Amino acid sequence: MTVLFADVVHSMDIAAAVGAERLREIMAELVNRASSVVQGYGGTVDKFTGDGIMAVFGAPVALEDHAFRACLAALGIQEEAKRLAVDVRERDGVELQLRVGLNSGQVIAGEIGSGALGYTAIGEQVGMAQRMESVAPPGGVMLSESTARLVEHATLLEEAEKLDIKGSDAPVVARCLLGVAPQRERIGSWREPLVGRELEVSTITGLLDRSMSGRGCVVCVAGPAGIGKTRLVGEAVQLAKSRDVEVFSTFCESHATDIALRVVTRLWRAAAGVMGLDDENARARVRERVPDADEQDLLLVDDLLGIADPEVSLPRIDPDARRRRLTALVNAALLARTRPALYVIEDAHWIDAVSESMLADFFTVIPQTPSMVVITYRPEYEGTLTRIHGAQTIALAPLSDPESSALVAKLLGPDSSVGEVGEAIVARAAGNPFFAQEMIRDLAERGVLQGTIGSYVCHTDVAEVSVPATLHAAIGARIDRLGTGAKKTINAAAVIGLRFTAALLTGLEVDSVLDELTKAELIDQVRFTPRAEYAFRHPLIRAVAYESQLKSDRAQLHRRLAAAIEVGDPQSADENAALIAEHLETAGDLHAAYRWHMRAAEWLRPRDALAARARWESARCAADRLPDDHTAVLDMRLAPRTMLISTSFYVGDDVDIDGLYGELRDLTMQTGDLRSLALAMAGRIQWFADHHTRVPEAATLATDLEEMATGIDCDAATKSILLNAVAMARFVNCEFEAALQVIDEIAALTEVPAVEIALARAIRGSVEICLGDYELGRRHLQESVEQGHALPPVVSAQILFFSSAMVVLGMSQADDLVDDVHEALRRAEEFGDSSGIMAAQYSYGITLLCAEGGSPDDALDVLQRLRTDVEKHKMFKLAAATLDAVLEIDAARKGKLDEAIDVLRASFALHMSSGSRVFVGCPGEALVGLLIERGSTDDLVEAHRIVDQWPTQRLNIPALDLWWLKSRALLAEAEGNSDYYTKLANQYLRLCERLDARGRLSEARRMVNEMT
Ligand SMILES: Nc1ncnc2c1ncn2[C@@H]1O[C@H](COP(=O)(O)OP(=O)(O)OP(=O)(O)O)[C@@H](O)[C@H]1O
Ligand SMILES: [Mg+2]
Repeated sequence: MTVLFADVVHSMDIAAAVGAERLREIMAELVNRASSVVQGYGGTVDKFTGDGIMAVFGAPVALEDHAFRACLAALGIQEEAKRLAVDVRERDGVELQLRVGLNSGQVIAGEIGSGALGYTAIGEQVGMAQRMESVAPPGGVMLSESTARLVEHATLLEEAEKLDIKGSDAPVVARCLLGVAPQRERIGSWREPLVGRELEVSTITGLLDRSMSGRGCVVCVAGPAGIGKTRLVGEAVQLAKSRDVEVFSTFCESHATDIALRVVTRLWRAAAGVMGLDDENARARVRERVPDADEQDLLLVDDLLGIADPEVSLPRIDPDARRRRLTALVNAALLARTRPALYVIEDAHWIDAVSESMLADFFTVIPQTPSMVVITYRPEYEGTLTRIHGAQTIALAPLSDPESSALVAKLLGPDSSVGEVGEAIVARAAGNPFFAQEMIRDLAERGVLQGTIGSYVCHTDVAEVSVPATLHAAIGARIDRLGTGAKKTINAAAVIGLRFTAALLTGLEVDSVLDELTKAELIDQVRFTPRAEYAFRHPLIRAVAYESQLKSDRAQLHRRLAAAIEVGDPQSADENAALIAEHLETAGDLHAAYRWHMRAAEWLRPRDALAARARWESARCAADRLPDDHTAVLDMRLAPRTMLISTSFYVGDDVDIDGLYGELRDLTMQTGDLRSLALAMAGRIQWFADHHTRVPEAATLATDLEEMATGIDCDAATKSILLNAVAMARFVNCEFEAALQVIDEIAALTEVPAVEIALARAIRGSVEICLGDYELGRRHLQESVEQGHALPPVVSAQILFFSSAMVVLGMSQADDLVDDVHEALRRAEEFGDSSGIMAAQYSYGITLLCAEGGSPDDALDVLQRLRTDVEKHKMFKLAAATLDAVLEIDAARKGKLDEAIDVLRASFALHMSSGSRVFVGCPGEALVGLLIERGSTDDLVEAHRIVDQWPTQRLNIPALDLWWLKSRALLAEAEGNSDYYTKLANQYLRLCERLDARGRLSEARRMVNEMT
């Protein structure tokens, strides 16, 4: 509740001048007038204080908006006092002035005292109201911080001041009330009390209280348009404010669904408290909030919030890492927050995909904070935010008939003439409160209802009145009735969005007629300074205003708006590029839209890979829709496809790369742009070989690419990229001599980028080791790992993959790699994208599993998670064969022998047919081992079948025969054929020695020794 204190300035001086008798008279008049103002706003005059009054709002009858009503009363009292002062000045020659102070909070109210004013409120809150009064300027109204917070959106306030106040040690914050935002009075008049929804409100209250106690929660409020979601959120916000919970809100918009990051940015801007600050101050504020954050992380936050210093460049990290670090930082900030907060996200059915997934990440920590999140959406939304773990969902049903009747009765008023029309409205509204309201507004505007809200009369025969059939029709009728200027204004505003500034309207060359729109309660002014900002009263009003326009008119507005956004804020053109592109696209200006889509993609590229790809996809669609004879249209169709294919390496599988690639090939054939085609082929080879079990296709494509690469004229950097892709395909397809040849070609080039040199060297080292040239091979691998330290984390992780592949094949020892894999994983996690992390996890897991002093449990854990991610993200399938081998051996050891055999059987078959035969021996060896262990006749038959398959695939690469020799030896032993076992075990040992297969030597020796 809010307490009001009003007091006469220098009453003693007045008494001295006019005498006690006259003063009493003046005071009586003043108190009379003030009391009626207070009562008019629903307050209770609590006591007469000799030279002033105290009043309470919100008690004894609970009032909504008590603070706002108290403000209205305070201003009303000042007005009355000024009027009275004119008389007093004339008659007595003295200056009568009042000070008024307001304070809101918990007041313990009870029946203390008796008599006419038998109601007294006490508590420290009253004292604060009195102190506010004491510091108010004569003729002014001073609000305490708590009151100001409740009314700041509805009133005009001076900047906050810190004042030293008697009786309080620390300075106290106070704000002077200048006036009431004019349109807010009208909202007030429409803000009829909530009807029904008792259960929902009590649920929200309970959840809010629980959240405040430290067990935060996410609440979804779902329901169709106009049913009352926003209204219920309003109740939650009021509740929160009355409990001193800070509230941060954001909203989604129908035209911004494709604009990445928009919603999340807005929410964190609010939460970081940087709204309305210039960039420099905003950055300082962020640093105040998170004092010991990493400087690089802070730069990422600046960039996310759109307050980055243009002089400072973004840290060089991959977009995935950026996302992880931002998530970690924001989660840490959420967890560190001890003061309860309410976060509101309205209309999530229009959320952009990036914001959606970032918010879903952030909300995972809410249960451990004293915060509550409320999300509203219409039922058509089925995205991630509807599936947040542990979230509560409130589905809003239509109001019941008695509730609808009560609502309509409140709006129409008690006059008997409106009874019948009321019934018609209730029947038509079908429990949708917004529809009921709009029908009444419509009827009032048509003159069917006369009077004002809450006291209408109706003189028309209801049978002759047509009631709008749908909510859209009701709104449409009201918009139709506007004057030409107002209609133009609302149309233009609808193109801008739910919120709009007067400045942007001017940019659209519209002579704004905003008064009429606010008066008609179609829009509200929501901000006064530094620039006027307006909002549609309801999203549906915007939708109807938008849809009712001629398409051609709308297109023109979209085009002008795109220009206005660019001109209005040239510094943020990159940031706004997506928005500009969307408007141009809607305007049908495809060429310009294409350019802005591409620009937006470039901006997003280091920030969010998926968002950037979505922009290239939009650019592709725009280019495809252009006529075939448009200038440079083929290049425009080619460029985004090239980007989509070349970045597909870093994303999961849910894109149609095959289709895109086919289109790209056709386009390059038409344009003759073989360089683009070759690069796309290289990307595609990597994609087949690394991410998918499609090695034969990679091999075929590599043959084509190698042929092409000799023919095209390109620089050494491009050429080395192409040749490395060929080398990789040769390697995974076990064409080792051919791989070495290609790598020699790379070595013969001059000015090859370090990345390509290092990768080529890693492949070379692996090939040499497998072929038996182990000293040279080890040196090359070692050199590549060292070079990797200075290269981007993804590359150094890729390089280490080759070293650990040699470990998993038993060709090298893991111990030398331990330090490198730790460092690579750290770097990848800090700076890298997910493909880099996966590669680093692989090397880390394999190395620590096999090293002497390794940590097998930790290693198996990492590898297990990696295998899940490989499946989930459909990336890095190249690792799958070896992962299956090590993980299933472990599973069998833990008692899941049968399951392990099943998995390995499938894995062996898959990799034999379309995977890399470099690694297929791993599941093969594991499978034979486990079949022997299980040992049924069928198992041994199957084991035979597996080892017998190899000769047909054999490639005369000695290292790749090791698993086969060993498996055959063990099989012979299991079958009691000891001579054959002796022969094979010796062969195995000799080959291990010849190849210096350090991972296998001791085991091979044991096998030979066992026989003797
Ligand atoms: N229970 C209620 N009692 C009184 N008025 C209500 C009630 N529910 C909704 N209203 C009023 O109905 C109108 C529409 O409600 P609201 O804006 O909350 O709808 P919504 O569900 O958020 O719709 P949208 O999906 O379009 O945003 C508002 O003016 C609101 O004040
Ligand atoms: Mg709403």
